Amino acid sequence: MKRRIGILTSGGDCPGLNATIRGVAKACYEKFGEDVEIIGIHDGYYGLINGLCKEMKQSDFSGILTTGGTIFGTKRTPFKMMQVIEDDNVDKVKAMKATYKKQKLDCLLTLGGNGTHKTANLLSTEGLNVIGLPKTIDNDIWGTSVTFGFHTAVDTATDVIDRLHSTANSHGRILVAEIMGNKAGWLTLYSGIAGGADMIVIPEIPYDIEKLAEACEKRDSKGFSIMAVAEGAFDKAEAKMKKKERAKVRAEQGLTTATSRIAKQIEQMTGRETRVCIPGHMLRGGSPSAYDRVLATKFGVHAAELVAKEKYGYAVAMIKEVVSENKLVDVAGKTKFVPEDDQMVKYAKALGVSFGD
Ligand code: F6P
Repeated sequence: MKRRIGILTSGGDCPGLNATIRGVAKACYEKFGEDVEIIGIHDGYYGLINGLCKEMKQSDFSGILTTGGTIFGTKRTPFKMMQVIEDDNVDKVKAMKATYKKQKLDCLLTLGGNGTHKTANLLSTEGLNVIGLPKTIDNDIWGTSVTFGFHTAVDTATDVIDRLHSTANSHGRILVAEIMGNKAGWLTLYSGIAGGADMIVIPEIPYDIEKLAEACEKRDSKGFSIMAVAEGAFDKAEAKMKKKERAKVRAEQGLTTATSRIAKQIEQMTGRETRVCIPGHMLRGGSPSAYDRVLATKFGVHAAELVAKEKYGYAVAMIKEVVSENKLVDVAGKTKFVPEDDQMVKYAKALGVSFGD
């Protein structure tokens, strides 16, 4: 009896998706030999709903360790908003179960972030055999100390911040870098520290613009400052608002993120020229770093081991530096934020980095 393993990638892409897929596939072919069939499901859950499936050959997994993106394609559209063959009345769960059954899958591996894990858990409670793998440059999946894609993005963001130093110095400017991360500030925190930012602004620590301006003034003799701001950062007044209200206020100000507002206010308050730099999706693109290739391989092989043990309903995770797994039900619907007393925050503050709090 052949095992039929479905794999999909869902949500925003990141470096290391292909390396993980390769890890799973190679380990499965090693373990099960001829007795395995891998089914690639295209465009995430959308493909599962619409039956976009392809039987893969072993050779399809060669040469993808170093490539960015995902060989299966992905869709970010939230599950509840998905259009199913232009017919929103289709029962999406039913459709996904039907594809799973039609493809005679023994299990489904879902590579994704928080939204993906939530849907994976839903399918698991519906009786499908599901294993989740933790992907995201945001590193915000609950229950795992690290996600693949994160460290590559840290490297890229650090390079961006590094490059801002010399130009900021030449012009005596304040350079504000907007780093991805709409809920959690891990990427900004790590790249900010690695890139020697003078101010780090993250959603978990609402900022006070006066404090940020003070920090810039304090550095005035140096002539320039580098500020790393998370895409999802908000100030203390916005912290009191509900998400919707905050979005409305921002829209009235013609803003989506706080970065340009921070730059403008800082310029007015300090009299020093500011510039904004938004690397955006560059942080999600390109080849995975060596660290992420290794991590993705470990996660992929671990998932294959779970398949061999028929241990389903779990999400692969790094727990206390050992690759392990959490129950999907425990992970679903949660976000791993930077804790207030995070050691990295403390160490950065000890260096004199301002968080604007
Ligand atoms: O979830 C990863 C992430 O890169 C976030 O940091 C960012 O806010 C979001 O995706 C951007 O998504 P999209 O590619 O849909 O614009």
